[in-house]
Formats: sequence, C-alpha cells, structure tokens
Amino acid sequence: MKVALFGASGLLGWSIHHELERRGFQSCGYLLGEKQEKRFQSFRSLDLRNEQKVTRELLDLWPDAIINCAAVSSPDAVNKNPKLADEINVDAAQRLVEISAHLGARFVHISTDMVFEGRDEPYRSTDRPCPLSEYGKQKLNAEKRVLAATDENVVVLRITLLNGNSPRGNRSPHERILECIKNKDPLILFDDEYRQPCSADNVASVIVELLERPNLNGLFHWAGSDVISRYELGIKILDRFGFSSKYITKSSLLTEINRVGQRPSNLTFELAPLVGKIKTKPESIAEQVENLKVPNDLFSWYRMHADDPTKYILRI
Ligand SMILES: NC(=O)c1ccc[n+]([C@@H]2O[C@H](COP(=O)([O-])OP(=O)(O)OC[C@H]3O[C@@H](n4cnc5c(N)ncnc54)[C@H](OP(=O)(O)O)[C@@H]3O)[C@@H](O)[C@H]2O)c1
Repeated sequence: MKVALFGASGLLGWSIHHELERRGFQSCGYLLGEKQEKRFQSFRSLDLRNEQKVTRELLDLWPDAIINCAAVSSPDAVNKNPKLADEINVDAAQRLVEISAHLGARFVHISTDMVFEGRDEPYRSTDRPCPLSEYGKQKLNAEKRVLAATDENVVVLRITLLNGNSPRGNRSPHERILECIKNKDPLILFDDEYRQPCSADNVASVIVELLERPNLNGLFHWAGSDVISRYELGIKILDRFGFSSKYITKSSLLTEINRVGQRPSNLTFELAPLVGKIKTKPESIAEQVENLKVPNDLFSWYRMHADDPTKYILRI
C-alpha cells in the first residue's frame, strides 16, 4: 500500500512515517519547509496551500491512502495569523479529502480534543463540540468539511495532548520543559487543567491499523488510559529526567484565566467504540514517560545540568 503522508516532519507524522515503514507500507512523506536535514531527505517539500501543485503531485503518485497530519497545530500560532492557519487547517484538509475521494484512496484526518470546551465528564464522539479557541474552531470546521465530502473510506481521528520524541526535538511537552530549564525560562503549570495524553507512537499504531480496517469509517476518539493535570505531568517528566520539582511553579487555571485566556479545564475522552474494535491499546502515563528521550541538541547540556542524570535510562 502506497501512503501519502502530509506533516511527516511533525511530532505525529514522524512517528507515523516510522510505523508505516515498520509494517511494510510505502510511506511518501511531505513537509512544508526545506528538507535540509538529513533525516528528512526522503520527504518532499510541498505547500498544501498550493492547490495546483498538490493536485498534480497526488495525481502523479496515485496513493492508496492519504494521511493528513499537517497543521498549524498550536493555539498560539493560530492566533498570530488566523487567516494563514485557516488555509492550512481547513482549506487544505478539504482539498485533500476531495482529491482522495477522486482517487478512491482511504483518507485519515487528524483532529483534536480542543473542539470541546472542557467540562467534567469524558466526551463521546457524538457529543456536541464547543471550541473555545480559534484553533479549536478551525479544527472543527475541518472535521465538518472532511466528513461532508464523503462518507466512504474516511476517518477523522480526534486525539489528545501528545507525548513523544519529535524529529527536531522541540514539539512535545518534555522537549519544551527541558528547553525552558536550559534557558532559565519560567515554567508555570496548572494543577486544575486536566488532560488524557497519548503518545505519538501509540497514535501512529492506531492510524496504521485504521488503514488496514476499511470497515471503520467516520469520527473516532483516541487518547491514553490516564487522566492527569498538566502540573502532575510536568512533575513526572522532571522525575523521568532526574530534575527536582523546583523547576516548575504550580498554579491554577481558575485564578489565572484573565492572564492566559479561556481554555478547556478538563479534556477527557470516552474511547469506545474504537478501543473495542482495534488491537492497539491505550497507553498509561508511565509507559509514555518511560519512552521519552533527551533531544540530541540538549544532550551535552543535560549531562552537565540534571540534578541526577543517572535516572535517565534509555530503553532500547
Ligand atoms: N501535538 C499535539 O499535542 C496534538 C494534540 C491533538 C491534536 N493534534 C493534531 O495532530 C496533528 C499533528 O500535530 P503535530 O503536533 O504532529 O504537528 P506539528 O509537529 O506542528 O507538525 C506540523 C506539520 O505540518 C506541516 N505543515 C505546516 N504547514 C504546512 C503547509 N502549509 N503545507 C504543508 N505542510 C505543512 C509541517 O511541516 P514543516 O515541518 O516543514 O513546517 C509539519 O510537518 C495536527 O492535526 C494537530 O492539530 C496535535
């Protein structure tokens, strides 16, 4: 099976690329920027806003499946330039599903828990979304356009906060925490902002399984098996790398809402029905944290500055 993978250089796309190769698929990865880095040499640069080029490329390639992980994926980046973000998060997603339908390819689109406002009980995929951020609104619009374009051979997978090892070492929560410590930047995390994180590798396994299961179509939820506050997750990350908890300042979303703006306080997912239909199991926080690595660029600094670097044992 030949798979066109958009966003291959991102946190999730990178894991999917490796999972596809591991399971014998032909992965054709795309990124936006130049592919100067050696690890991206097999990928192609293609701006998803360029309708003509995207169409031509996919007609030439004629893949059996298209996976869309390309996005402006942080709420802050979306707020800085909402129009540009909309072209990538919404218009490009619609273009890809339309081409995919024309090619008769399977289409997998990635969405987010940020389409919800964050109430107390776990969300089902049938619950009514109510995004608080522009990012959440764009992701919801994309979902609607993708699911309106076709009801065959299509999956929209909503996922939660991602742990993992990004190719550039700067995307996931632990990579940002280590960078903050290195730069002596303040690290303030809320103990009343709950998430149900999953790992990029685990989601990659789900997505590749979904490619192999053409009977599973529509909108699904996926997450890890544990719910945790952002503060507690930060403490577990510090512990995994042998840093003391003094680097994180505990705070409260409730009391800081005016400073940080409206954001969902409690985003958790009901994983049925998908969890009962596939082999991949949701991962615990402990499993996710154990697989985190110090980014290569930070390794020398890390050995010199961690309170107890002997705690960091790499699992091979
Ligand atoms: N990270 C999370 O915690 C999280 C949580 C829930 C849902 N999600 C969703 O999961 C998906 C993947 O997120 P991620 O964190 O892996 O994203 P990411 O690390 O920010 O990667 C984004 C990818 O999109 C590519 N891209 C950006 N603009 C593009 C354009 N105009 N044309 C072509 N490619 C473009 C980037 O290429 P370059 O590298 O060349 O810039 C990169 O490969 C997104 O849909 C996101 O909304 C993420």
